[in-house]
Amino acid sequence: MSKDTNRLLGHADEADGIDEYDNPLPDWWVGLFWFTVLWAVGYGLWYHVIGDRSQARRLSEEMTAAEARWPAQAEALAAAAADFAVTAEAVAAGEAVFQQNCVVCHGQNLEGGIGPTFLDDEWLHGGQAKDILTTITQGVPAKGMIPWGGILSPEQINQVAAYVITKNSEATGRPLGDILGSGEDAVPDPSGSAGDPVG
Ligand code: HEC
Repeated sequence: MSKDTNRLLGHADEADGIDEYDNPLPDWWVGLFWFTVLWAVGYGLWYHVIGDRSQARRLSEEMTAAEARWPAQAEALAAAAADFAVTAEAVAAGEAVFQQNCVVCHGQNLEGGIGPTFLDDEWLHGGQAKDILTTITQGVPAKGMIPWGGILSPEQINQVAAYVITKNSEATGRPLGDILGSGEDAVPDPSGSAGDPVG
């Protein structure tokens, strides 16, 4: 690099007499410039490729951490499905849970209101026991149905579902066994558990 300092470029006549030197930038400045260019390449490789700090990876890490910290929904659902049974005790306890938490939207006698009735054959989110358990646990937040998984215990969810299912079966004449399902979709047979089966 030429160290020729104070050489005039010689176009003063084109610029109202203002002249201009052609001085090279100092070595330290040029060195710093190339250093930042190389640094950017190295840092880019390290950040995106070697260290993989992509947003997708961050998100999946945060989701895993959240899953570990707040396992409530997934576990509540699994727990509810595992011990679900329609027994007289469950239905009686479920009625109390219903009166306390659900009547404001589903009506004193399940006739509906803000939320749908449970006395007909129409189900927005499935009328099998497992669907009903899922709806109660996960809610439909966009439509105003609360995710009860974080509020009621898995046992209370079982009970209130047993109550809803029993009332539905009584009102529509749909056999309880049909609601409880069979094969893969089935929840455990009520007759196999303690207490008197209802329906
Ligand atoms: C704040 C009002 C509100 C409360 C309280 C509420 N629900 Fe709901 N629920 C709704 C609404 C609204 C829907 C309909 C959601 C939709 O349109 O997808 C619904 C839907 C449901 C469904 C699905 C019905 C279908 O057709 O698939 C079930 C089951 C249910 N609720 C059970 C319960 C139970 C059990 C409780 C009490 C623990 C409860 N809800 C409390 C508003 C409520």
